[in-house]
Amino acid sequence: MNIVVMGAQWGDEGKGKIVDYLASEAGVIVRFSGGANAGHTIVIGNDKYALHLVPSGILYPDKMVVLGTGMVIDPEALFGELAGLTEKGIDWAGRVLVSDRAHLVLPSHRRIDKEMEAGRKQPIGTTGRGIGVAYGMKSFRDGIRLADIDDPERLVNLEAEDRAFLDLYRDRLLEMKTDLVAFLRKRRNAYVLFEGAQGALLDIDTGSYPFVSSGMSCAAGAAAQGGIGPRGIDRVLGVFKAYTTRVGNGPFPTEFSDDSPGSLQAFIRDTGNEYGVTTGRPRRVGYLDLVALRYACAANSVDRLVLTHLDVYDELESFETCVAYRLRGKLIDDFPASIRDLESAEPVLRRFSGWKTSIKSTRSWEELPRQARDYVQFIEEFTETPVSLISVGSDRTQTIVRESPWTRS
Ligand code: IMP
Repeated sequence: MNIVVMGAQWGDEGKGKIVDYLASEAGVIVRFSGGANAGHTIVIGNDKYALHLVPSGILYPDKMVVLGTGMVIDPEALFGELAGLTEKGIDWAGRVLVSDRAHLVLPSHRRIDKEMEAGRKQPIGTTGRGIGVAYGMKSFRDGIRLADIDDPERLVNLEAEDRAFLDLYRDRLLEMKTDLVAFLRKRRNAYVLFEGAQGALLDIDTGSYPFVSSGMSCAAGAAAQGGIGPRGIDRVLGVFKAYTTRVGNGPFPTEFSDDSPGSLQAFIRDTGNEYGVTTGRPRRVGYLDLVALRYACAANSVDRLVLTHLDVYDELESFETCVAYRLRGKLIDDFPASIRDLESAEPVLRRFSGWKTSIKSTRSWEELPRQARDYVQFIEEFTETPVSLISVGSDRTQTIVRESPWTRS
């Protein structure tokens, strides 16, 4: 059975925790897109792990993880992260594979990324990890895949700095090389989790272009670049937060304008620890945008939603949710492609009562306060998509399961 876990907002929805949670029943975890721009935090008891490239299932002792074809992999970041796992006592040897068709991020890509960003009149706010340049080189047909690194003819056009860099990592990378399509073909009956990075609204095609990342963070990315085809996907889970965050620049219709100490934005940022795992940047915060969420569900055939960070609302008397946009005097309820329209869109908000009690130790749907259930049911009706998991804290155990995603419907 193949399940895709993707972000349904602008990234940072809590995919890492959900993949880690679901991985207990999976045999293989394949990350299908992004690079070291991503940051996945996983909390197990008193231990906290920040992963950027390695799929979140690595923390279980018996799982195989694969860095898929759609990823752009910086070997320096990868081996730094693996060394960090070793220090924390995680034995990853023989369990981390890299698709031979995945592209590598080279030092020149990082440099050009920073130079291009500095030269932009409207900076995107990239993470500076060379991601867009590596994907660009791939499209130009000048990229370097793992399969190419021991073929001197493929490397002749590289700058000396990039060649010297590859020399440092070649042997270790080759030990992890796998043909992902063949690997999965031989495991047809395995339970495989396809882990996305970023989110639907940062996807190169469905996102708020050009304020997006450069990979396929949509569900189709798992099919195109995860080693299987579209009909191999059994279920698409869209992960979203009770509110919305965004890092970097670009339109964000429900963003709170007040960022002063004591404001709702500051409260949610601190309560939800909304600071970038990769860059440490404070995240921009706003109410849940159901117009955007419904768009993400439709564009990705999301068949189950996963709601995270619901406990961040525990202390609020009431809160709001965006159910339409007002654009130049007209009401619209579809997510526009034009950046100018998205920037001008004013959210039409609907107010909900808070529950004013801690739900962090709640483990069942029935135990959730009525106000929280009303909120979830409204989201389900609006998006026409059931919410099957609810996360009420960062620990693995703080999860309410309404329906196991591994159950075939
Ligand atoms: P890049 O991926 O570094 O090129 O950055 C492009 C845009 O995507 C910037 O706005 C980044 O802040 C954003 N971005 C990239 N990765 C993530 C992520 O994992 N979470 C949230 N935003 C991201």
